[in-house]
Amino acid sequence: MMPDVRAVVAIGLQGQFGLDGRLPWEGNREKAFVEDVERFFKLTRGHVIIMGPRTFVSVPEWAFKDRDFVEIRSSEPPAEVLARFPDRVVFIGGGPPVYEAYAPFIRHWDVNRLPYKGPADRWFDPRWLLKSPSGAVTV
Ligand SMILES: NC(=O)c1ccc[n+]([C@@H]2O[C@H](COP(=O)([O-])OP(=O)(O)OC[C@H]3O[C@@H](n4cnc5c(N)ncnc54)[C@H](OP(=O)(O)O)[C@@H]3O)[C@@H](O)[C@H]2O)c1
Repeated sequence: MMPDVRAVVAIGLQGQFGLDGRLPWEGNREKAFVEDVERFFKLTRGHVIIMGPRTFVSVPEWAFKDRDFVEIRSSEPPAEVLARFPDRVVFIGGGPPVYEAYAPFIRHWDVNRLPYKGPADRWFDPRWLLKSPSGAVTV
């Protein structure tokens, strides 16, 4: 049995996604950015989040308490990784190559567009949404 596979991502106004291994707007204390982080941790509480090695090392220590972060590698077939969590909700946690590979399994996308206009070295690709099964919801 496959788990319930979901994604919660935040993007800048032009699709900015990452910068130097972090969120491009990290440290911004404006309301929209603070609320986005709070919402991410609320939605993922009690669930599994799978992520590539670079995103994994960026997770703050305190976040491990309430959710199960799992580092995944490209040598692991996505279907086999997901089959390890049959009764769980699994969030795909990035980065871009991971969304690319896992998009066909993602049943719900939650995309929050933030008021950020600055630089990035990783970008959101809207084609990921089209690889997901029909019925996937985009916010
Ligand atoms: N804005 C957002 O919502 C959001 C969300 C997540 C991440 N990010 C940002 O994204 C950036 C990090 O992403 P990144 O791509 O540089 O590094 P990453 O998080 O390490 O993710 C990419 C790596 O994941 C591994 N991987 C595991 N399973 C894979 C699969 N099935 N197919 C392909 N690759 C797989 C690969 O490394 P190996 O080949 O070595 O295994 C790949 O190079 C950071 O800036 C982070 O903040 C942003």
